[in-house]
Amino acid sequence: MLSSVKVQETFNQDGEDFDKMLRGVPKLRGFRGFLDPYVTPLQLTCNYTSAQSNAQNLPRLPVPKLKDTLEKYLLTVQPHLNDEEFAKTTSLVKDFEKGTGQKLQSLLEKRSKQHLNWLEDWWINTAYLEYRDPVVVFSSPGLAFPIEKFQTQTQQLQYAAKTLLAALEYKRMIDNNEIPVEMMGKNPLDMQQYKKIFGTCRIPWEKRDKLSYNKDSKHVTVIHNNHIFHVDLWGDDGVLLNEDQIVKQLGKVVQLSSTVNNEGIGILTSENRDSWAKAYQLLAKDTVNKASLEDVERSIVVLCLDSPVGIWKLNDANARRTLAGAQLIHGNGYSSNGGNRWFDKTVQFVVGADGVTGLTYEHSPAEGQPIAVLTDFLIKYLEENKGPGSPSSRPKEPTLLKFNVSSEVGAMINTAKKNLDSLVNNLELNCFQFDKYGKNFIKTQKLSPDSYIQMAMQLAFYRLHKVPGAHYESAATRMYIGGRTETIRSCSIESIAFARTMLDAHSSSKEKAAALKSAINSHKNYTVQALQGLGVDRHLLGLKLTAIENGIELPSIYSDAGFTRSAHMRISTSQVACKCDGFMCYGPLVPNGYATCYNPRANDVNFATSAFIDNPETDCNKYRSALEQSLQDMHDVLSQTITSKL
Ligand code: COA
Repeated sequence: MLSSVKVQETFNQDGEDFDKMLRGVPKLRGFRGFLDPYVTPLQLTCNYTSAQSNAQNLPRLPVPKLKDTLEKYLLTVQPHLNDEEFAKTTSLVKDFEKGTGQKLQSLLEKRSKQHLNWLEDWWINTAYLEYRDPVVVFSSPGLAFPIEKFQTQTQQLQYAAKTLLAALEYKRMIDNNEIPVEMMGKNPLDMQQYKKIFGTCRIPWEKRDKLSYNKDSKHVTVIHNNHIFHVDLWGDDGVLLNEDQIVKQLGKVVQLSSTVNNEGIGILTSENRDSWAKAYQLLAKDTVNKASLEDVERSIVVLCLDSPVGIWKLNDANARRTLAGAQLIHGNGYSSNGGNRWFDKTVQFVVGADGVTGLTYEHSPAEGQPIAVLTDFLIKYLEENKGPGSPSSRPKEPTLLKFNVSSEVGAMINTAKKNLDSLVNNLELNCFQFDKYGKNFIKTQKLSPDSYIQMAMQLAFYRLHKVPGAHYESAATRMYIGGRTETIRSCSIESIAFARTMLDAHSSSKEKAAALKSAINSHKNYTVQALQGLGVDRHLLGLKLTAIENGIELPSIYSDAGFTRSAHMRISTSQVACKCDGFMCYGPLVPNGYATCYNPRANDVNFATSAFIDNPETDCNKYRSALEQSLQDMHDVLSQTITSKL
């Protein structure tokens, strides 16, 4: 039964989360404790209820049983340890289970009774707001839309205007609770993340950034040649501008900013968070600057009208994808479009002069999936090519936001330019479409496509490095109130046995297929548990943060080789599924690691892989080849097994 309590829709400026809003909501149902393993997660249906009223009816994130987590943990560390090391880790884990672990567990259980979601605040702070590396590459993903071919500036601006109108339409649906509640099998998912994507901005702050939520904004920020503009989307008559009028407004922005602004302060948002926080404080002392900063923070979204990048000079479709991915992750450095950004904004649309289109999103308020659903909505809207609509009789003029840049801030801008360029030059990207087969083939084999693709990455890594690769995959825990993600530890005893069997010239196809199926089943089992919040990582994080908060010495399991190796995620992965031919991309989690974001579609899979160039161990191009080879070999093994059965 749905509660009749209305969820308040206002967010406070300092980013207080929904916990507070929902305080006093009666009768939260407890953990339901089951999930049908063969239902389709994230299946979109609209038969449940509106997004607004669904949150307070969801169960709470459980605190897993200590014994269960530790048993699972030991299984996941085993591939990374030799016998002696494993015996040591096992003994530490047993001591922890009998000793400090129990105390931490009961404190954590106490916390879970006091919070609607025991992890939510901790997670947003430790995973995002307290993280001091730049959001660029290290945290914010890019999402490439299908590449366009603009012949004229008007086409670019028309696309941009349609994108804004589509986003506004989507925002209207979110605000009016018209977005269908997503379901994971029979379980409705928490839709609150959708309400946090428009009007939101991260604000740099010493030690811990803040989030500013502005649900009722009426303007957007447009950036061109590093100049930043306020553009109203409603006229003085309160009527939304139509497409032609938005095109005109964007045309004026372009006219007013025909040369590159070398003192554009957007580049500062690509900096280390403490450096940016320092520059922000200096800027905000000036009242003109403060007003301009707040104007950007309060806008609905940022639109970056980018300079051309020569995308159509590249003959190879995957080279074009890779270039688009780079533009969307980091703007390809200061000399390209890296200064034409405001990386703190949750949604930053990019519409490039010669056809790179997509968005960069600041990760703290939402996961990739709501952004991917938004993307499909936008692309459909753009394809439908809606008419211009009725005009506003009194559009307002766009205004250039002024910033007084002191010599001290000027020096910081120069440093930011250099730092962004080093970051860009150190990231090797390879975005490509694997077009030999997609989900359909895998399903005909009665296998889970996601687990199958994950095992292809395990095989690719082992093929290249001959050691087990600790492997992170995100699983959505949105079946719980305030849920974000749990880690699927994709590297398992079975995944390594599979990789070894596949690479062993003496193994038969039958043995290889059996090893593949066993690895996939093991991954699928972990996935089902992770989706229920019963993985290893968030629970161990919770126990660790409980120790820190209560002044309890950190137990030695956290410094042991089992922990450090299994949590050093050399393969950082996410499935971000959208129907359109788009893909999400981001940087690796660790210096000697790879990132792999993928969009599995019926007959192909879009991959975006990356690695750091200065690391001698990794090579993104070799990783891509190994991944393609692995997918091919797995296909062949399965096909041969079928043939031999016939
Ligand atoms: N035989 C036949 N078909 C199968 C099958 C089997 N054994 N197992 C699964 N399938 C089908 C499913 O029914 C589903 O069908 P559909 O295409 O009609 O929907 C499809 O294969 C895909 O299922 P699967 O690949 O197993 O899982 P998934 O696509 O639902 O993805 C997760 C699993 C973990 C990625 C997903 O649940 C999730 O959490 N996604 C969000 C991740 C995230 O947060 N990303 C963003 C981070 S920024």
